[in-house]
Amino acid sequence: MQRERLRIGLFGYGCVGQGLHDIINSSGFDAEIVKICVKHGDKPRRLPARAFTLNRYDILDDSEINLVVELTNDAREAFNIVSGAMERGKMVVTAGKAMVANNLAALTDMQSRYGVPLLYEASACASIPVIRNLEEYYDNELLNSVEGIFNGSTNYILSKMESSGAGYHDVLREAMDNGFAESDPTLDVTGLDSKQKLCIITAHAYGLFPRPDDIFHTGIENITEHDIRYAREKGLRIRLVAHVSKCAADTITAFVMPRFVQSSDKLYHVKDEYNGVIAEGAFADRQFFYGKGAGGHATGCAVLSDISACSYGYRYEYKKRARGRVKKITNDHLTEIYLRYNLEEERRLFGFKEITEYFCGTGFRYVKGVVNLQTLYQNREAIRESGVFMVKI
Ligand SMILES: NC(=O)c1ccc[n+]([C@@H]2O[C@H](COP(=O)([O-])OP(=O)(O)OC[C@H]3O[C@@H](n4cnc5c(N)ncnc54)[C@H](OP(=O)(O)O)[C@@H]3O)[C@@H](O)[C@H]2O)c1
Repeated sequence: MQRERLRIGLFGYGCVGQGLHDIINSSGFDAEIVKICVKHGDKPRRLPARAFTLNRYDILDDSEINLVVELTNDAREAFNIVSGAMERGKMVVTAGKAMVANNLAALTDMQSRYGVPLLYEASACASIPVIRNLEEYYDNELLNSVEGIFNGSTNYILSKMESSGAGYHDVLREAMDNGFAESDPTLDVTGLDSKQKLCIITAHAYGLFPRPDDIFHTGIENITEHDIRYAREKGLRIRLVAHVSKCAADTITAFVMPRFVQSSDKLYHVKDEYNGVIAEGAFADRQFFYGKGAGGHATGCAVLSDISACSYGYRYEYKKRARGRVKKITNDHLTEIYLRYNLEEERRLFGFKEITEYFCGTGFRYVKGVVNLQTLYQNREAIRESGVFMVKI
């Protein structure tokens, strides 16, 4: 197939932008980065000043540039940049999970309207090629579930708490100092970052575009040594797992929660900043993808793969969305959880239907039992404010 010569306008020269630049330079990939648009003019850069601009229209209005690569850290601006590029007939590659997850329907419409591809492999699990696999290999109705560890920072924190016995806040501080967590880690530790990726994965696994607000999520920000010890005594580990599965031919359910995993589970062995994704099919059984879920070079590889795919005319066809077999997402789903809490009113937020274990210790209690995800979703704000910690069993 004839490859289109690429002239790239790059937005963002931070962790991923510089990683991509290194990879293009060292791989000999045949593409030219014509201009780089950044936000601040006064930052020291590795390249001469003439490589940069602060004016987005130097890229958007340059008719010689046929591909825009969007690697900024501002989801709202990213949407304006991406839509501006598509309106002008430019192909687009982005790593912006928040931007993609919150605008999937509009972005899909623009791809059809302007006849240009938008690829975003790096937006979900960075270096792991999950989107294109869901789109092409799993192009059938036989996918029972997709789940996994989609966030490297939280996995690093959980792994270090397990191995060192240190408390959450000490490990979080160390993760921030070592660059494994953002200076504002809220999106990661609350599970919101995993949920944005889950929305994108759901779109390609099932053809449904859920809004992040439709999905229940809870994170690891309230975990303590008690919870880690409880898991260890039972031979388990705690991992923050994002999950989507079919519960009927036309219905799926999805959530992000910490989960107890056994040593027979592939996710048990995913440590530190790594990610892991398990796709379970009706006949193919379980398939496991493992790799780096963050980092400039790892993420840059996924971006380069999309750039290369653009040059051959590849685009997502959203075939499952067109077929429309999956019609709705539900929270009406029973699940068993472990809950550590202090006050009875906190426990009541969960509406336990059945209790299988109860323990009262000094300064905390825990209970295990069955709850409906719908109740958790309805009470999500109060649950978030309560300071309890829950784990799916
Ligand atoms: N880091 C990862 O491991 C990773 C993994 C997967 C996906 N992602 C996604 O990749 C994207 C980039 O992440 P990052 O870690 O590379 O971010 P980063 O290190 O914070 O860099 C952000 C870059 O965007 C530039 N920028 C911000 N607003 C801009 C605007 N309005 N116009 C032009 N440039 C603008 C900044 O300019 P200045 O340099 O002037 O400040 C900076 O160069 C994000 O969407 C992130 O979610 C990151």
